[in-house]
Amino acid sequence: MKTLLDYNARYPPFWRAKRMSGHVFVTRIIPAPGLDRVRDYCTEMDIALDVWGERLPPPYEVLCARASGAVGVVTTVNDRIDAFFMNGVGATLRVISQMAVGVDNIDLGAARARSIAIGHTPGVLTDATADLTFALLLASARRLYESTRYIEEGEWLTWAPAELLGADISGATLGVIGYGRIGQAVARRARAFDMRVLAYSPSLIPGTEVSGADTVSLDRLLRESDFVSLHCPLNDHTRHLIDADALAKMQPSARLINTARGGVVDTAALYEALITGGLAGAALDVTDPEPLPADHPLMKLHNVIVVPHIGSATVATRDRMALMTADNLIAGLRGDPLPHAVG
Ligand code: GLV
Repeated sequence: MKTLLDYNARYPPFWRAKRMSGHVFVTRIIPAPGLDRVRDYCTEMDIALDVWGERLPPPYEVLCARASGAVGVVTTVNDRIDAFFMNGVGATLRVISQMAVGVDNIDLGAARARSIAIGHTPGVLTDATADLTFALLLASARRLYESTRYIEEGEWLTWAPAELLGADISGATLGVIGYGRIGQAVARRARAFDMRVLAYSPSLIPGTEVSGADTVSLDRLLRESDFVSLHCPLNDHTRHLIDADALAKMQPSARLINTARGGVVDTAALYEALITGGLAGAALDVTDPEPLPADHPLMKLHNVIVVPHIGSATVATRDRMALMTADNLIAGLRGDPLPHAVG
């Protein structure tokens, strides 16, 4: 595993020194292929490069201070990029390049009003995220985490005919909320497992044909699905889309999978549904709050699996994301259209 020491050896302080005008600020150590590309470009163009080298992201005040006067910033989902930040950076800022597909941490309206280009990393993380979604679905259905704990707690005394019984996948109904790239990739995996797929998205008219899924209303999807998987962006329309009312429509035997954004689910309502038998289980890659504290009540439930926002976390995917991030940044610095601009 690469450590901060490796990083410091690779990028001596000169590279991280900030000059007063026109620098690039990178808010985290992104995978080497992308960081190398950024560094090479900054060297060639004599632009100072400042890379935040800590394990935790810069606190908001530090983020604002370090980015002040920057021409470009590389950001992650952890950074609050709002109008105050943009005002603080100043009129120098040409491009915000986010190493993620989701950009709900960025005030897009404020950026557009200031003609700041915004880049992100769609497409390359579709399969990795769909794979993790399916891993969570299978793990929840077959109670994998609970089964491991069962052994750790000394409960594995014999083959048990009626213990740790889970849910069948084959023949079950999967409801996919948000039928973009990742939702469709999850649906493809579901079909290979002989599942029936229902899809809901505000842009889909219920009853129309889409590849491999029946388009339905949100209401029908919630009522008929054995598994509900979330793949919509977080915005004003989707915040707490899965609230107490939505959860009440789901079958008590159903399971919720979230690899989208924590804020799409009302965490308190989810907890309530899980402890009162309103829902059989949940598997979450994203949470609200995020990170979820280790002592959060959700973590104590036997029917919940939580992983720490690792949807795109494979070596090859993160390398590709870092390269796209570098390409977006460089295009923005040059004043060219970004190859992967936020639409
Ligand atoms: C990760 O959550 C992403 O949006 O890429």
